[in-house]
Amino acid sequence: MDSKAKRPLRVKVISMGNSEVGKSCIIKRYCEKRFVHKYLATIGIDYGVTKVKIKDRDVKVNIFDMAGHPIFYEVRNEFYKDTQGALLVYDCASKESFEALDTWLNEMKREIGNPAEIENVVFCVCANKTDRQKRTVDEAEGRIWADTHGCYYFETSAQTGEGINEMFQTLFSTIVEACENGGKPPSISTSLGYTKEQAEAIQRLKNSKSDWERLGLYPGSSKDEINKAYRRLAVLLHPDKNVAPGSEEAFKILVSARTALLRGK
Ligand code: GTP
Ligand code: MG
Repeated sequence: MDSKAKRPLRVKVISMGNSEVGKSCIIKRYCEKRFVHKYLATIGIDYGVTKVKIKDRDVKVNIFDMAGHPIFYEVRNEFYKDTQGALLVYDCASKESFEALDTWLNEMKREIGNPAEIENVVFCVCANKTDRQKRTVDEAEGRIWADTHGCYYFETSAQTGEGINEMFQTLFSTIVEACENGGKPPSISTSLGYTKEQAEAIQRLKNSKSDWERLGLYPGSSKDEINKAYRRLAVLLHPDKNVAPGSEEAFKILVSARTALLRGK
């Protein structure tokens, strides 16, 4: 037996995201297999340890569960360093918490300082509370953010348990893989298969309020202008050419926006 390969590993994982998005509940669901309805804000930081076995290897995971509230910045900022894995959590019924992911990532980058250290962190985005009815951030939007920031993406519910084990399993096995590979996790951003422009076109079509806006035109544009804008976007969005999440839906929106605008001509 190769004793070196079986050496127990110690890894550090942190949780990030706005307050009340469910960071502590996700960790509790995984470690204690239970869910707490009542909101108990984390004060500064919570620390816990869990042991897992990944590919025949004992792994001791130190989990630092951060408080999301801005008043705890001074307390949590010293815990970013020497991290192998990070959960970036948002509530899929809160656009604000989704938009805050950039701020969280930037806070971590600022505190760590060294870009090479950030590159070695395995990030898992958790679109949490999928059990809730009123969803305001759809799956495609979340996936695109994760893809374009080199993160894994999971739909989770700490309440029902959806996605939690899969998420931690991916996180831990990627960390172990990275440790066996000199600390470097496998790159997921190079296999994207779509451009930023394609991803942005999808979001614009889905989030625009009027058909004019969907085609990037001003009200009253001519038939020629409508067709020209349509053709440009159709090339960007056609599902045969665009493999980004949500391209099919965006293409359908584009076709009906053009039809509606031409009908008025
Ligand atoms: P801070 O510690 O303040 O940063 O918040 P947190 O992100 O740790 O949130 P916490 O895990 O304490 O959960 C906040 C509230 O959301 C609690 O009332 C939980 O019961 C609820 N909650 C967490 N996860 C879920 C979920 O998946 N579904 C639903 N419906 N509620 C959830
Ligand atoms: Mg908490």
